[in-house]
Amino acid sequence: MKTRAFCCFSGQMSSSRWKICALLLVFFYSFTSGVYVGINIGTDMSNLPSPSDIVSILQHHGIKHVRLFDADHQMLNALANTGIEVMVGVPNGQILQIGESKTEAANWINKNIAAFVPATNITYIAVGDEVLTTIPNAALVLVPALQFLESALLAANLNFQVKVSSPHSMGVIQKSFPPSTATFNSTWNSVMVQYLQFLKNTGSSFMLNAQPYYGYTTGGGIFPLEYALFRMLNPNKQIVDPNTLFSYSNMFDAMVDAAYYSMEAVNFSAIPVIVTATGWPWFGGANEKDADVDNALAYNSNLIRHVLNGSGTPSQPSIPINTYISALFNEDLRSGAVSEKNWGLFFPNGTTVYSLNFGDIAELDTNSTGLVGVFCVALSNANRTALKVGLDWACGPGGANCSAIQPGQPCYDANDLVAIASYAFNDYYHRTQASGGTCNFGNTATITQVDPSHGSCIFAGSTGSNTSSGGSFSPPTSAFGPISPGNGGSTSQPTEFISLVLLSALLFFINL
Ligand SMILES: *[C@@H]1O[C@H](CO)[C@@H](O)[C@H](O)[C@H]1NC(C)=O
Ligand SMILES: *[C@@H]1O[C@H](CO)[C@@H](O)[C@H](O)[C@H]1NC(C)=O
Ligand SMILES: *[C@@H]1O[C@H](CO)[C@@H](O)[C@H](O)[C@H]1NC(C)=O
Ligand SMILES: *[C@@H]1O[C@H](CO)[C@@H](O)[C@H](O)[C@H]1NC(C)=O
Ligand SMILES: *[C@@H]1O[C@H](CO)[C@@H](O)[C@H](O)[C@H]1NC(C)=O
Ligand SMILES: *[C@@H]1O[C@H](CO)[C@@H](O)[C@H](O)[C@H]1NC(C)=O
Ligand SMILES: *[C@@H]1O[C@H](CO)[C@@H](O)[C@H](O)[C@H]1NC(C)=O
Ligand SMILES: *[C@@H]1O[C@H](CO)[C@@H](O)[C@H](O)[C@H]1NC(C)=O
Ligand SMILES: *[C@@H]1O[C@H](CO)[C@@H](O)[C@H](O)[C@H]1NC(C)=O
Repeated sequence: MKTRAFCCFSGQMSSSRWKICALLLVFFYSFTSGVYVGINIGTDMSNLPSPSDIVSILQHHGIKHVRLFDADHQMLNALANTGIEVMVGVPNGQILQIGESKTEAANWINKNIAAFVPATNITYIAVGDEVLTTIPNAALVLVPALQFLESALLAANLNFQVKVSSPHSMGVIQKSFPPSTATFNSTWNSVMVQYLQFLKNTGSSFMLNAQPYYGYTTGGGIFPLEYALFRMLNPNKQIVDPNTLFSYSNMFDAMVDAAYYSMEAVNFSAIPVIVTATGWPWFGGANEKDADVDNALAYNSNLIRHVLNGSGTPSQPSIPINTYISALFNEDLRSGAVSEKNWGLFFPNGTTVYSLNFGDIAELDTNSTGLVGVFCVALSNANRTALKVGLDWACGPGGANCSAIQPGQPCYDANDLVAIASYAFNDYYHRTQASGGTCNFGNTATITQVDPSHGSCIFAGSTGSNTSSGGSFSPPTSAFGPISPGNGGSTSQPTEFISLVLLSALLFFINL
C-alpha cells in the first residue's frame, strides 16, 4: 500500500514549498512516500565497467537515484534520458579553486551541470566529502564554494532544479549519544552556522555520512550488533535517550537524530538530513570478523525497508530519510583495511555479491519457497515481558503483517500471548529470512516444523494440511493489553527502565 505519488520529498523545493509540504505531511503522514534509497558509485577500482554498462546495471535493478563523486562527463552522458536522478560531486581537490573564485565556480557549473541538464536529471551537487574532518585547512572556503556555486546556478536559472550542499562525517558531532545532547564540535561552529544558514536560505539538505559499521566496530563492544543491524534488541538492552525517553531501535536513527539535535543546538530546525553514505562491508581482514555477507545483507536490506517505510527518526518522525547506500561496486584501489575495498553490492560483471533486493523488501512474498513447512514460533515458557516487546517490534519496525491478530480476526486470542506472538514472529521470519532475518526475538522464539495453523488462522509457510484442529498452543495464562501494530517498538516503554537509563548513562560517555 505504498503511495509513491505523494512526492514532497522526491525532488527539490523552495523553502515555502517545503513548509507547505511539511504541513501536508502532518495530515498525510501515513501516505507519505517519494522517499528513496539510492546508491553511491565510487570509482576507485582497477576494472571499472563502462558508463553504459553501469547504467544497464542500475536500470536492471530499478535503481533510480545515484551519487557520483565527481562530474565525469561520460557518466553524465550515459545517465541522460534514463529518468535516474543524479547527485554529482565536487572532489575535495577542487574546493580551494572554486571557493576562492567566483569565475571558477561559474565555469564549473557551466561545464558540468548546465551542459547536461535537463537530459541528465542532476538534482544535487555534493561539494567535497567530509571536508571539515579530512581537509580542515579548506574549512574556510567551504561555504564560499557553496555560495559561488549557488550564484552560478541562479545565473543559469538552475537553482530550483539543482540544490547544493556538502556531506559531513559523524566526526563533526562530538558525543553523538544520547542524541538529544549531541552538538557539533565547537571548533567548526562558525563554519557550521554559515553552512546551515546557506541550507536554510536555499531550501537544501544537511548531508550526513552515517556509518553504523564504524559506530559498532569502534564502540568497544558497548553496542549490540543487533542495534547496528536494525535487528530486534534484547528487552534488557533497549537503548533509550534519557532526556527524551525516545527508544532507539537502531544506530542509524540515533546517528541521524544526533545531526538533528546538533543543528537544534545552534538554533536551526527543519533542515532535512539526507544520508549520503551508509552501508556495510561484506568481506574483511582476519581482524574484521563483522565484515561478512550475512551482516552486509542484513544491514542493507533492513536499511532499505526502514528508509522506504518513510517514518523518519524518533525526533523527526515526519521527515523521511532519503539515503544513498555505499556502494555499487567493490573498490579494490581504496586504501586502508581489507574491508574498505569490499562495500560493493555488485561485481564489475553486474552479478550481485549477495542477493539484495532493491525493490520494496517489505512486500516480499511471505510464502517463499524453501520455507514452506517451517515456522518461527514463540516459546510457550518465554518471559512475557520479552514476548510483548518482541510482538511490538515484529508488528512495528519489523514490518510483519499483523492484521490477522487484531481483535475479531482469525488469529486473535485475547488470552494467548504466545499464539499471537507466534503469528507475528512467523510472519516476520517468512518475509525477511531470505534477506538475513532471524527467528530469535530476544531468545523467545524457535523454529518448528509443526504447523501452528488452525481453523481459518493460516500461518505463512503453511501447506494448508493442518487447519482443522482447534489450536496447538499452551493454555491461556492471563489477558494482556491491546496490540497496536502502528506504534512499534520505538514508543513502547520497556519495564526495565532503570537498567535502560543506566545503560544510556554508560553510552553517554562513548563517542561514536
Ligand atoms: C528530475 O527529478 C525530479 C525529482 O524527482 C522530477 O520532479 C523531475 O521531473 C525530473 N526531471 C526530469 C527531466 O526527468
Ligand atoms: C574537535 O575538533 C578538533 C579539531 O579537529 C579536535 O582537535 C578535537 O579533539 C575535537 N573535539 C572533540 C571533543 O571531539
Ligand atoms: C539560540 O537561541 C536561544 C534563544 O533565542 C539563545 O539563548 C541562544 O543563545 C541561541 N544559541 C545560539 C548558538 O545561537
Ligand atoms: C562475475 O564476477 C564474479 C566475481 O569475479 C564471479 O564470481 C562470477 O562468476 C562472475 N559471473 C559471471 C556471470 O561472469
Ligand atoms: C522477564 O524479563 C525481565 C527483563 O529481562 C526480568 O526483569 C523479569 O524478571 C522477567 N520476568 C520473569 C517472570 O521471568
Ligand atoms: C495482511 O494480511 C491480511 C490477511 O491476514 C491480508 O488480507 C492483507 O492483504 C495483508 N496485507 C498486506 C499489506 O500484505
Ligand atoms: C503457501 O504456499 C502453499 C503451497 O504453495 C499453499 O498451499 C498455502 O496456502 C500458502 N500459504 C499461505 C499462507 O499463503
Ligand atoms: C496439527 O497440529 C497439531 C498440534 O500442533 C499436531 O499435533 C498435529 O500433528 C498436526 N497435524 C498435522 C496433519 O500436521
Ligand atoms: C511504517 O512502519 C510502521 C510501524 O513501524 C507501520 O505502521 C507503517 O504502516 C509503515 N508504513 C509504511 C508506509 O510502510
